[in-house]
Amino acid sequence: MSGVSAMPFLKPMSLPSPGRQRRHTLPASEFRPLSPQDAVSVFEIEREAFISVSGECPLHLDEVRHFLTLCPELSLGWFEEGRLVAFIIGSMWDQDRLTPEALTLHKPKGRTVHIHVLAVHRTFRQQGKGSILMWRYLQYLRCLPKVRHALLMCEELLVPFYKKLGFKILGPCAITVGNLTFTEMHNAIWGHALMRRNSGY
Ligand SMILES: CC(C)(COP(=O)(O)OP(=O)(O)OC[C@H]1O[C@@H](n2cnc3c(N)ncnc32)[C@H](O)[C@@H]1OP(=O)(O)O)[C@@H](O)C(=O)NCCC(=O)NCCS
Repeated sequence: MSGVSAMPFLKPMSLPSPGRQRRHTLPASEFRPLSPQDAVSVFEIEREAFISVSGECPLHLDEVRHFLTLCPELSLGWFEEGRLVAFIIGSMWDQDRLTPEALTLHKPKGRTVHIHVLAVHRTFRQQGKGSILMWRYLQYLRCLPKVRHALLMCEELLVPFYKKLGFKILGPCAITVGNLTFTEMHNAIWGHALMRRNSGY
């Protein structure tokens, strides 16, 4: 996907016209924070996306439940007709850079959102969903008054993907998992929120 336009964010949810009522009540597309009840669906996507590839994954099932219990408001799920197709899980962090403790801790007094994981269900990849979901999530974070920064760690091959979403490279991440090394990236949530406030919209 070349760049992310504002359109997907602004596009209204498709509503059935009076003459074409849907036969079921599940919305075609829904974005909402996750809850601990979503943990198994989250982990199913993680299992395929990460564990089957490298044997590791950003969050194990108990960690998914842990963060969705502590800070569900820092997660976002994309559901198609009730089925989870993509998600983001974050928690608060209180340092400028990520350390191994960031993998398991939620620091509610911090000003930085640590984005633990973005993943899209295999059958929905390469359709713009990962970009759109992250874009919506960043817009949402800009509405949270205490959030100033977002940090994430990713493998080198995904650096261009996150750059397109406004993330800047901070350098090698202090966290390694087995043989895997990561690049740490930063997004200035506060800077964007200030620019928006100053530009009057
Ligand atoms: C990475 C991921 C979240 C991207 O979501 P997506 O919906 O497939 O991505 P989009 O359709 O929005 O964007 C496509 C872009 O993603 C990038 N991308 C996606 N997967 C990639 C991969 N495995 N390697 C390199 N770039 C990749 C490419 O830049 C691609 O751009 P292109 O179409 O110009 O080639 C998704 O592929 C996924 O869940 N992968 C497995 C889990 C994962 O690696 N998560 C990231 C953890 S940091």
